[in-house]
Amino acid sequence: MKKFAFASVLAALAVAGFPLMMMQAAADDDGERVAPVKDPVVIKECGACHMVFQPVFLPARSWQKMMAGLKDHFGENAELDEAAAKRIGDYLTANAGDSGYFQGHALRGLRDGDTPLRISETPWFVRKHEKHGRISPSALQRAKAKSKSDCAACHPDAGKGYYEDD
Ligand code: HEC
Ligand code: HEC
Repeated sequence: MKKFAFASVLAALAVAGFPLMMMQAAADDDGERVAPVKDPVVIKECGACHMVFQPVFLPARSWQKMMAGLKDHFGENAELDEAAAKRIGDYLTANAGDSGYFQGHALRGLRDGDTPLRISETPWFVRKHEKHGRISPSALQRAKAKSKSDCAACHPDAGKGYYEDD
């Protein structure tokens, strides 16, 4: 009798534990919300021309390289005064993909020496978007996206860190 009761407790635990395990698996997926940028200086200066990209999508070394080359930032002059540049550079590197947040998902496939300046060219981004032509010229056109970098055209809440298709 005792043995039987023990078995049913185990069975009940297994049933209760199963959905918990599933939730854990879901939480580990790439689709989780990424931390939105909170620093007002980063928001102001790096949101002037496009959405404020979350630092977690690139490694710290990429942000350092980008901050060192703001004078020619994808053909635009995005230079900043020293204090703002220092503050923004510190924020971006502290919250970069190698900070551990988002489990380094966005850095998968990058080699140690790779310093991409575009999120939209990282192996992770390409892998996420090459399926079903998610980012083909016609998909960009349908979404009225200016380019692959125009995350918010397809992910309306991208600025808040939500990229999942609901
Ligand atoms: C032309 C449309 C389009 C553009 C532009 C675009 N995406 Fe996506 N993205 C998609 C689609 C479609 C999916 C797959 C469906 C989904 O999971 O939302 C996706 C998936 C994702 C995912 C995975 C979500 C998950 O649940 O696994 C992330 C993260 C993401 N995109 C980030 C970005 C970022 C960052 C940018 C800009 C640098 C961007 N996307 C630009 C269409 C786009
Ligand atoms: C004067 C306008 C301007 C400012 C200010 C600016 N950017 Fe940009 N940024 C651009 C342009 C233009 C592109 C290229 C967009 C495209 O290809 O569609 C770009 C692209 C990017 C990309 C690559 C997007 C991708 O994955 O393709 C990143 C990352 C980026 N900027 C980060 C920043 C950061 C960080 C700051 C603040 C220090 C900043 N930007 C400030 C104009 C600007």
